[in-house]
Parts: sequence; structure tokens; C-alpha cells
Amino acid sequence: MPLFDVYPLYNVTPVSGKDMHVYDENCVEYLDLYGGHAVISIGHSHPNYVTAITNQVSKLGFYSNAIQNPLQVELANKIEALSGCKGYELFLCNSGAEANENALKLASFKTGKSRVVAFKNGFHGRTSAAVAATDNANIIAPINAQQQVTILALNDVEGVKRELEKGDVCAVIVEFIQGVGGLDQGTAEFFEQVDKLCKANNTYFIADEVQAGYGRSGKFFAFQYYNVTPEVISIAKGMGNGFPIGGILIHPDIEAKHGMLGTTFGGNHLACAAGLAVLNTIEDENLIANVNTISEYFISVAKTIPQIKNIKGRGLMIGLEFDFEVGELRKKLIYEHRIFTGGASNKKLIRILPPLTIKKEHVDQFFEALKKALS
Ligand SMILES: Cc1ncc(COP(=O)(O)O)c(C=O)c1O
Repeated sequence: MPLFDVYPLYNVTPVSGKDMHVYDENCVEYLDLYGGHAVISIGHSHPNYVTAITNQVSKLGFYSNAIQNPLQVELANKIEALSGCKGYELFLCNSGAEANENALKLASFKTGKSRVVAFKNGFHGRTSAAVAATDNANIIAPINAQQQVTILALNDVEGVKRELEKGDVCAVIVEFIQGVGGLDQGTAEFFEQVDKLCKANNTYFIADEVQAGYGRSGKFFAFQYYNVTPEVISIAKGMGNGFPIGGILIHPDIEAKHGMLGTTFGGNHLACAAGLAVLNTIEDENLIANVNTISEYFISVAKTIPQIKNIKGRGLMIGLEFDFEVGELRKKLIYEHRIFTGGASNKKLIRILPPLTIKKEHVDQFFEALKKALS
């Protein structure tokens, strides 16, 4: 049976990984500055992670959400401790889109409203309401287009005010650092005004931290650079270091009701073991401090490369913008220099999304290769 051909593929076949590197079937080493799309947080095959998953699967890999699962409670407590989101409650699912879908559904249930405000160049996933709130007509099928979504420009405070005052908006959903869109960020004034407008109009403020969360921005959550209190925070990518897990953190004022949300696989024992290994490693290895140190170093070196016209993003979610399309440059980096990087909908931008364990030597290796590839 052939695979349904939806992905344009690079001709590389990784079969193993260790920390910052993956290796193909001929043991050729590749430096991973893409983290499998911002997913690898604590490095490939981290020993803590391998041990935790191996031990858990040999005991109990899965049982449904009809029984007590102390691993979920442990994971929730650890997220609260590391994120500082005191009192928030956790609902677990399996992916970023699903996290946003549940966030939007919760907002609609609780406010009794159904329209969503989202932003230009935003990406929230490919399920029903999440994809409708994504600013990309190519991935919105007619069945998704039935959702009521208004897309505004980032920083358009007046637009948000106008829409929320109409009284039918259940949620404003935003990435505090845009991922796929190309690492743009709103201003502090914008985010803080939107937060106030949401509170004044019975609208939920949803922070989509699927990509920027879990330390990647240099704080546990990217919204924590601002004075805002999201009603719901969605999480996924870095949470499982590759094990499929997602979730939403729900503000303490929001009451749960049995049956309101649910999933078969979400929060299973194996996923929780993976999630706990990730958080314990982020804490034990001071990885958020490392994000800030390496980010500063990376940006300081990037500034010395004349072909780089603009540096975007924050932490280890960095965009390097050139004045030409970077498709060929990224191919050279992979095939000649054995370095994975990411692209964006902005074709002139390379995205750097490495494991949070990256060291200065990897940054040096990248810039040496980049200089050669540009010459
Ligand atoms: C900000 C953001 N939200 C949501 C998603 C969707 O996550 P998933 O692919 O796990 O459904 C992504 C994925 O790239 C993302 O970057």
C-alpha cells in the first residue's frame, strides 16, 4: 500500500539519534537545529527519557481515563511547579491541534458564544476549529470553513475591541511568538490590551504555547514576558520530546463538568512517563537557563553575518531572514553540511528550533557551515 503523499520529503532517513544529532542508515551524522519541528526538547534518546518510558511500558503502558492515574496528578503538579501557573488545572490530550480544539470548545461551552478571533499568519493546527482559526486558506476544507472566525492583523487593538464588543466572540487565540508564520511577535501593549478586552467582554484569552512553550522562548511560557492571564494555555510539542502528548492548562476560575471534555488516549501512563521525564530533565539540567545563554550567543554571531538581514523570535525559536528565498540554502545545509534547519511560510526565513540542550560548539558549527554555504 503506498503512503498518501501529503509531505514533500528530504532524501534523508534518520534511524537513530543522540542529543543534538540524528544518524542515517549509513551512520552519517546530522546536526539537528530543527528538533523535528520544535518537538525535541531534552535531546534525542535522553537516557532519563529512555529509562522512564522503558520502565513504564514494562509495567503498564495504557489504561483509559475511567480509573485513577497518579501519573497524571504528578505531571500536573510538576507543570504547575515549573511554569509558575498556580492553581491552573490540566486536561491531557495527544497533539497541538487537539489541545487548541479543546481550548476553543471549552471557551464556547463556558461563554455560550461561538465566534473566534485569531491573527494573520497564525497557525493553530489542522482539526476543525483549530484549522479554521489558522490563517492559511489552502488547509481549510469547506467543512472547517463553517466555523465563525475573524482574522485580524497582529497589533490591531482597535479591531479586537470592535469585534469583542459585538458580544458573540468566545475566544481570542494567539501565538505569542508565531511559529510557522515566521517568528513575528505582537507588542506588549497589544497583548496586554487584548487580555483586558477579553476580561471585559466574557471572552477567553487562549495562549497557544504549542511551539513556544516548555522553555523554548527562554521563559517556561512565552506569554510570561507580558502582564497577561490567559484563561487557557495550550501545550504539546516540547512536552513529550517526541512522544505524542498535548494538553490545556485551565484557569482556576473555570469549573469542570463531567463529560465536558474527553479522550481515549490522552494522559495515558506511557505519555505521562515521557512528560515527567522531560520536565525532570528540564529542571535538573537547567535547560531554560541554557536556552537564554545559547540564544544570546547565537544572536550575537548571527549579527556578524552580512547576508542575514533580520533576526526574529526569542530564545531557541529564532528566525534568520535573508533577502532571497532560502529553499536552496537549506538543501545545501542538509546535503553538503549535514545540518537540519526549519522553513516558514515566509520563504526568506530559516527557522532554528534546536533541542534545548544545544551548546556553543553546535552554534559555531552551524555558522561555519552557513558561511561556506553562502559563499
Ligand atoms: C503554534 C502551533 N499550534 C498548534 C500546532 C499544531 O500541533 P500538532 O501538529 O501537534 O497538531 C502547531 C504545529 O506546528 C503549532 O506550531
